[in-house]
Amino acid sequence: MTAVVEAVRPLEDYLAMPAEYVAESIAAAREALGRRVVILGHHYQRDDVIRHADLQGDSYQLSVMASQTDAEVIVFCGVHFMAESADILGNESQRVILPDLGAGCSMADMASIDQVEDAWEQLAEIGVLDSKVAPITYMNSSAAIKAFCGRHEGVVCTSSNAVPLFDAYLKAYDKMFFFPDQHLGRNTGAKFGIPLDKMVVWNPHEELGGNTAEELLAAKLILWRGHCSVHGRFKDWHVDKIREKVPGVQVIVHPECTYEVVEKSDLNGSTSFIIKTVEEAPPGSKWAVGTEVNLVNRLADRFPEKEIHLLAPDLCMCATMYRIAPQNLAWVLDNLTEGVVVNEIRVNDETKHYASIALERMIGMTEKAG
Ligand code: 13P
Ligand code: SF4
Repeated sequence: MTAVVEAVRPLEDYLAMPAEYVAESIAAAREALGRRVVILGHHYQRDDVIRHADLQGDSYQLSVMASQTDAEVIVFCGVHFMAESADILGNESQRVILPDLGAGCSMADMASIDQVEDAWEQLAEIGVLDSKVAPITYMNSSAAIKAFCGRHEGVVCTSSNAVPLFDAYLKAYDKMFFFPDQHLGRNTGAKFGIPLDKMVVWNPHEELGGNTAEELLAAKLILWRGHCSVHGRFKDWHVDKIREKVPGVQVIVHPECTYEVVEKSDLNGSTSFIIKTVEEAPPGSKWAVGTEVNLVNRLADRFPEKEIHLLAPDLCMCATMYRIAPQNLAWVLDNLTEGVVVNEIRVNDETKHYASIALERMIGMTEKAG
């Protein structure tokens, strides 16, 4: 839900502003607002935005930061589902702003709550829910789907904690229904040795998700048919090509890449894992990185003594993350200095209640797993 509030400063004024004025305007508003505002930035944000962030992180770290900050307003430089999670985890009086409301996530949009509820009913009808089935959703999903998981003993996971969370749920439940990223689900299931034929794909546009009742009854993991279009651009032949071109290169990818790409790569993990691995690598080491281009370029700039390549030669950019421009940031901050909260993201109370169960369960289980 978005609260529509009239801006006292029109966005158009900022869109036409030269970059240096925009940066000055952000700095002046920050100075005026002080500790009342915290700016959170996801690793995929562009450089001219991320440099204004107080705190940077992957989607898990940002959710923890949102749950811990005492700032009155969280300005979230990321995408919609992240801002929603910040609103769910923040305290009652905190307000959350997404500087551009068009910053969504095409993967999150691949599963609607109606489709998920319909799928759950179909699974009940054929007897799948007679065994213990846990719904697990990737952070990249709507608040309503997180609430669904909260209501049904499930949890939220991110790419940084999928392994310990799958571990706990695979021990306690017969099956898992995972939304909406089939690739993260399959890649994580494979780490536990689940055979590919026991991981079936649920196509929301087909009866029984395009499976037979027998296949669903026999499955260990039911994977929603969703994917990230950015990470989907990395192909297994890119791994072969870069190894041919750059002898000694190590390939590290995000687990939103396909199973074939992850299988061929040397390492895979969340954005923070990728950053940490490259940070700790020795000078002269060579890396091909399969994730969003803004992050890869930033790593290449930070570590000129290491050889860092984007795994695919074409631009793998998250266009929705890129929608957050410094102009939008300047606009929301200036309105805040006038006491006006524009582009507020607010989750309704009931959804918030159940979604917070699933999100807090995630944080609790992740901390426990260390
Ligand atoms: P991280 O969990 O590594 O932050 O990646 C999530 C993502 O897809 C951001 O879009
Ligand atoms: Fe969504 Fe992919 Fe962009 Fe992440 S990189 S926000 S999963 S579209």
